[in-house]
Amino acid sequence: MPHFTGRSLLSLWDYSREEIESLLDLALQLKDERANGRRRRRLEGYTLAMIFEKRSTRTRASFETAFGEEGGYPVFLSGDDIHLGVKEDLADTARVLGRMFDCIEFRGFSQQTVEDLARYSGVPVYNGLTDLYHPTQVLADLMTIRECFGSLPGKRLAYVGDGRNNVAHSLMIGCAKTGVHFVVCAPSQLQPREDFVGRCRELATETGAGILVTDDPTAAVANAHAIYTDVWTSMGEEAEAEERKQVLRPYRVDDRLMAATGNPDAIFLHCLPAVKGEEVTEAVFEGPASRVFDQAENRKHTIKAVMLATLGREQGS
Ligand code: CP
Ligand code: NVA
Repeated sequence: MPHFTGRSLLSLWDYSREEIESLLDLALQLKDERANGRRRRRLEGYTLAMIFEKRSTRTRASFETAFGEEGGYPVFLSGDDIHLGVKEDLADTARVLGRMFDCIEFRGFSQQTVEDLARYSGVPVYNGLTDLYHPTQVLADLMTIRECFGSLPGKRLAYVGDGRNNVAHSLMIGCAKTGVHFVVCAPSQLQPREDFVGRCRELATETGAGILVTDDPTAAVANAHAIYTDVWTSMGEEAEAEERKQVLRPYRVDDRLMAATGNPDAIFLHCLPAVKGEEVTEAVFEGPASRVFDQAENRKHTIKAVMLATLGREQGS
C-alpha cells in the first residue's frame, strides 16, 4: 500500500497511477465487506467536518454515511451558516477546524479555497467538487469501469458535452494517469483547458493512454468502452444555461450515439444529477447500457477508501 497517511485529495494531479489503483483496490474490498454484512469501526473517535457551499446529494451522503459506518462522527457545516470567508479569514477558520477535526471535506466554488483549507488546517482535506475539479467523482468512475471491464489500461472513454467543466477535467487527468484512452468531444468554446490537455498528454506517454480533443461526436465515440456525459450547465453557471442548450444540442447522448461506438458492450456513465432530455435521452439513461447507479453507489466506497487511507486507518486496530 502506498503511503497515504496525512495527505489531502485536492485534485488527481497529486496521485500516481499506483496510488489511484491502490485506492480502487481498497474501495472494491470495502464494497465487498459491506455487501457481506461485515461492518468495521475503523474510524471510532474520529471527526469529519463537511463544508458545503453548493448543493449535493451523492457527495454529502457518501462522506456522511461512509464516515459514520466506520464509527466516526461527521458534522455538516453549510456555507450559509459558518463564517467561511465572511467576517473571518479562511486561514483562521481552517486553523480552528484543524484543531477540532481529524479531516475536512469541502464542496464549493473556488479551488483556491480547498487548497487554503489544506494549507492552514494541517489535516487531510478532501475536494468534494470545485469549479475546476471533482476528483472523488472520478475515483468512482474509474472503479465502475474496472468493475465492468476488469481493468483500466487500454480502455476507451468518450466524454461528450461540456468539456471544460470540473468532471471533464478530472476525468482527463484520471484517465491519463491510469492508461485509459480519453476522447473529449465538445464545441470549440467548451473544450478543456489547453494547459491541462498538454500536461495530460505528457502523463499519457508514460501510461500508454491517448488524449484526443474533437468536436465530432460520432467520430469521438468509435470503439468506446464507455460514453460519459454531465449536465450542460454546472452549478454556479446558471446564466449560461440558454446558450449551452443551443451549442450543446448536437452533443446529446442518444441511442444513435451509443450505437456509433460499434461496441455492443459499451456502457453509459453520468456523474448525476442528470437533466434527462438535455445531455442524455431518457431511453439511454434508463436503458441496458446505463451504469449510472453503480457509479453513484461507488462514490461511497471510493470516498470511504480515501478517508481510511489518508487517516492511516485502512487496516483498523
Ligand atoms: N455526482 C455528484 O457529485 O453528485 P452530488 O452533486 O449529488 O453530490
Ligand atoms: N459539473 C457538475 C457536476 C455535478 C456533480 C456541476 O459542477 O454542477
